[in-house]
Amino acid sequence: MTNFDAKESNILITGGAGYIGSHVVKQLLEKSKSRITIIDNLSTGSQKNLDTLFDISEGRLTFIKADLKDFEYVNEIFIKHRFDTVIHFAASIVVPESVENPIKYYMNNTVNTTNLIKSSVEHGVGKFIFSSTAAVYGEPKNLPDDGIDEEYPTSPINPYGMSKLMSERVLIDTAMANSSFKYVILRYFNVAGADANDENSSCSIPSPRIGQSFPNATHLIKIAAECAVGKRSKMFIFGDDYPTPDGTGIRDYIHVDDLAYAHVKAIEYLDSNESDIFNVGYGKGYSVKDVISTMKRVTNKDFIVKLAPRRLGDPAKLIANNRKIKRKMNWYPKYEDLEFICKTAYEWEKKLG
Ligand code: UD1
Repeated sequence: MTNFDAKESNILITGGAGYIGSHVVKQLLEKSKSRITIIDNLSTGSQKNLDTLFDISEGRLTFIKADLKDFEYVNEIFIKHRFDTVIHFAASIVVPESVENPIKYYMNNTVNTTNLIKSSVEHGVGKFIFSSTAAVYGEPKNLPDDGIDEEYPTSPINPYGMSKLMSERVLIDTAMANSSFKYVILRYFNVAGADANDENSSCSIPSPRIGQSFPNATHLIKIAAECAVGKRSKMFIFGDDYPTPDGTGIRDYIHVDDLAYAHVKAIEYLDSNESDIFNVGYGKGYSVKDVISTMKRVTNKDFIVKLAPRRLGDPAKLIANNRKIKRKMNWYPKYEDLEFICKTAYEWEKKLG
């Protein structure tokens, strides 16, 4: 990973105590001279991640406990700090919950994002990096062999995906009307694993310092890791009657540090390029059964796996076409390996206790 941006950017990161946000903060602290302010309401973000980030921050990190729905307070923070860049993670992300409680998703994701964009434009922010999702593509019909590219029609099948697509639109229209305001929208596929911590880990046993800490996990790899460490007695496969080779859902799992690096590259990218949208994934799919057997193999632990009905709002298969981000942003993944993803998830889970 190259060092970047000796110019000392002044960056606001919403949701910086959360899973993906904390990995981006870590990389920016380690790879740049930027000053970083985190706003997080700590609803799913973790104090443990924050403590680790402060340890490596050399005085360049500020934390403000705040909720983005508090528009006046958010505006005051912008007045005080004069950010040049905003990276926006803070959001609700559980698909089934969004189906049951759509208003929560439209308020917390779309409404709060709209206000954040408003404050950004009003206070001279030049770069806005937005955390979007493959869920904007919905249930792809006629999935191309080389995965979904950014031109693929968007058609979310759940309120989570729609709340993110609506936020994208606000961003696009706002940038169209304000020439000094640019964005990069990153559409994430399935992020997993924990801090690769290359410098301090031996090759075979990673030693993550930060990771996903939210107690009621819904993500497949996190749940499998919890089973492997014995925190859960069993897990479920949600449907084995999908039109896939083994009948279980297929996803493109990307290591969190590769995804985080795409944000670092995006800031650099906007120095000399226009606003754009990028998919971030490896372009390779694994089924639920592949993931579970990999977790069992790399941890040498067995656990009970049962079959359950399909989960509401789950598409059969989602794989990224990542050619655009590789070509235009020169982003290349370093940890493209399901075993490594599972190992870091497992080691982090052990550390969490
Ligand atoms: C979804 C979103 C993604 C979002 C993420 C955040 C879509 C298409 N994707 O990912 O954009 O960032 O949520 O929450 O909406 N599974 C099991 N058993 C389990 C857990 C999961 O079988 O205990 C299966 C699911 O049915 C799915 C796969 O594993 O086939 C992955 O599920 P999960 O890790 O929850 O992520 P997505 O739902 O794909």
